[in-house]
Amino acid sequence: MSVMVLIGAQWGDEGKGKATDLWGSQVQWVVRYQGGNNAGHTVVLPDGQKFALHLIPSGILSAGTNNVIGNGVVIDPGVLLKELAGLEERGVDTSRLFISADAHLIMPYHVAIDKVTERFLGNSKIGTTGRGIGPAYQDKVARLGVRVQDLLDPSILAQKVEAALHIKNQILVKIYNRKALDPAQIVEEVLAQAEGFKHRIADTRLELAKAAERGDNILLEGSQGTLLDVDHGTYPFVTSSNPTSGGATIGSGLGPTRIDSVVGILKAYTTRVGSGPFPTELEDEWGEYLRQTGGEVGVTTGRLRRCGWFDAVIARYASRVNGITDYFLTKLDVLSSLKEVPVCVAYDVDGVRFDEMPMTQSDIHHAKPIYELLPGWSEDISGARTFEDLPKNAQDYVRRLEVLSGSRISAIGVGPGRDQTIVLHEVFG
Ligand code: IMP
Repeated sequence: MSVMVLIGAQWGDEGKGKATDLWGSQVQWVVRYQGGNNAGHTVVLPDGQKFALHLIPSGILSAGTNNVIGNGVVIDPGVLLKELAGLEERGVDTSRLFISADAHLIMPYHVAIDKVTERFLGNSKIGTTGRGIGPAYQDKVARLGVRVQDLLDPSILAQKVEAALHIKNQILVKIYNRKALDPAQIVEEVLAQAEGFKHRIADTRLELAKAAERGDNILLEGSQGTLLDVDHGTYPFVTSSNPTSGGATIGSGLGPTRIDSVVGILKAYTTRVGSGPFPTELEDEWGEYLRQTGGEVGVTTGRLRRCGWFDAVIARYASRVNGITDYFLTKLDVLSSLKEVPVCVAYDVDGVRFDEMPMTQSDIHHAKPIYELLPGWSEDISGARTFEDLPKNAQDYVRRLEVLSGSRISAIGVGPGRDQTIVLHEVFG
């Protein structure tokens, strides 16, 4: 048996859906442990069908796999129902989706506050997805949150919504000049929505412990990425949860000693959505080239992603803070037909070289990439299925990234399709 954590090693959107899809057939459980519908996973099935998942683990597309939305996730009930309906319409069996009773709910006031706060911040805005993620996590920590289990006790639900709105309405009306929200209406709406998924509520912490004890393979799937982690990311331009591997134990209830491997998903170049520092960002035609060739448009928001060359400082940092055992390198095909491929090996911060992530945010904001130029390749690699199928320069690029990143590369993505993957080492089992 094996418990694997899968995390984004950069700023998210590294192609985690492809990895969960690849390993989904080998696992009995896929678990989301943080975030909410700010995430977006695209999975392309062999028949060409494309699925964009936001909240539901991508293991739902593998027959027979159990899927868990863990306690660390924040759930928008309306989004959950819509996503379930969309999958069912296309013939996907959703009966194996279980939802933690301890997960928190994103309420309509969280979405409203997310949007007005961003507007209020003006130039200092985070560039959130506007889905209410931050305000829902704020309420969780402030002990004002509404949990999935509250849907099973309408009077408790009403009390909690009323308590939360008592403060929120003052903020909405007095600070943001918005209309007050009606607690009774919200409770009625949420209870009606709960009818559609109540039967899925479970003690997922216990079920996962039993599964691990039985020897099931379990995949704990992180959303977003290392640099968007509220503790380890480019704070304050981060999300409000812990996408790093440590978050997997908190957000699922499986103890740290249960984890056997941590796989980092690493894009062959770098992207970021929203505000915040991004040392290798390209604001020229090369950025546009990567955006066009890589199809770098947000799955959740439709926003154009900021693009840049591969940043090994970040990869080393991700290896360190997540304890990465293996990397899955994605989108290598996007770099085909470049004469030379720059790779950032260190930063220059006001004349001082940094081989590791600077300690302070000010230094990260001043970081200028120091590049090493690697020879490119012109061949189409989308049909490569073994490492040897890759042109020599592409092989050298991968090997160089491996050395610079500090963890072995065990899989390489050469296209969006399910079969367009080169496996170098088996990571499960
Ligand atoms: P929030 O998670 O909506 O609060 O947004 C906080 C920051 O995280 C913003 O910069 C978002 O663009 C970014 N973010 C959230 N989810 C994702 C994701 O799945 N991929 C990439 N960026 C994300």
